[in-house]
Amino acid sequence: MNQHHVPAFSLPTQNRQVLLAKRPVAIPQADDFELDTAAVPVPVNGEFLVRNIYLSVDPAQRGWAQSAMNYSEPVELGSPMRALAVGQVVDSLHDSVQKGEYLYGWFNWQDYCIARSEHILSRIDPGLAPLSCFAGLLGINGVTAYLALTSLGRPQAGDTVLVSTAAGAVGSLVSQIAHNLGCRAIGLTGSDDKVAVAIERYHYDLAYNYRTADLDQALTEAAPDGINVFFDNTGGEILDTALRKMAVGGRIVQCGTAAVSTWQPPPTGLRNEREVLTRRLSWNGFVIFDHMPKWPEAIGTLASWLREGKLHYDEDISERIEDAPSAIDELYLGKNRGKRLIYIG
Ligand SMILES: NC(=O)c1ccc[n+]([C@@H]2O[C@H](COP(=O)([O-])OP(=O)(O)OC[C@H]3O[C@@H](n4cnc5c(N)ncnc54)[C@H](OP(=O)(O)O)[C@@H]3O)[C@@H](O)[C@H]2O)c1
Repeated sequence: MNQHHVPAFSLPTQNRQVLLAKRPVAIPQADDFELDTAAVPVPVNGEFLVRNIYLSVDPAQRGWAQSAMNYSEPVELGSPMRALAVGQVVDSLHDSVQKGEYLYGWFNWQDYCIARSEHILSRIDPGLAPLSCFAGLLGINGVTAYLALTSLGRPQAGDTVLVSTAAGAVGSLVSQIAHNLGCRAIGLTGSDDKVAVAIERYHYDLAYNYRTADLDQALTEAAPDGINVFFDNTGGEILDTALRKMAVGGRIVQCGTAAVSTWQPPPTGLRNEREVLTRRLSWNGFVIFDHMPKWPEAIGTLASWLREGKLHYDEDISERIEDAPSAIDELYLGKNRGKRLIYIG
């Protein structure tokens, strides 16, 4: 939990923005962005003005900034960086959006955003949890962890679930959800301190530092009967190794590709069609935005587990909008401890 439950902002007259200045081909670096200021915009009919409080930093922003194949159009150069944020409505000319409401949506890396209905991802009930939580545990990270695991991983009690980026915002919740559903969880993360946190705080039964462990041997010992569900956020060599440790009938949820630094040129690696065939694996890609109708169900379950003490979450919050340009790179370097947010309230 953090101390910023109630925003303390007064209304500035300028809108600070983090603009995408260059098109990155790999992980976006600080100099791909520029800080700028503009006038605070004024809503017209059907629009409302949101004052951002928490800016979200997400690995997916790499894909949104690049022009390589993705599920969405790349961010236009010179525009505020596409980002999710938690904010408060400070002016509204929209019939069903009230001044004072808290929202989570596509409000980008800036102080103020003019928005319409389609920019709202969810309406916030501030009585349910601290505001920051709606950008993490009750935002895309938690909802992705819950829906990708349950709808594509289809875990059964007693299953062994392997998770990559195990100590991150999504991974730290996948293990706890798996535990709540009666499964065993094995985690892979990039440092010894994160391995310890994964076991002590996020309910992993076993966890390994993928940078130093012999993964092949570790997974053979950790899952002698094979892995039933692999919740993969990295791809690359971790996926190549895990594919050879899957149980017959195993399910692979491809939720992220953090270990693939660029898609230009397309990466090559080991061949794995034989594993898919002989082990009768299902391998499905997950994009949260295809699953929006199930968002309320996911929030309901996650919020009740949170209330019952069955979910722990951590946040890594800085307090300067100037921290945004380097934040995606730092995420890929594994510097975050929990959900990475920038508080600008
Ligand atoms: N498909 C969807 O709809 C959807 C929605 C949300 C998130 N995601 C995906 O879920 C994953 C986790 O997202 P998050 O928001 O929870 O971020 P996060 O895990 O809090 O932060 C990213 C983590 O990725 C790990 N990482 C970075 N480069 C890596 C590499 N080369 N090999 C292995 N691990 C690496 C780092 O942890 P270590 O220190 O452990 O290396 C880093 O802390 C991302 O791949 C993201 O794209 C997908």
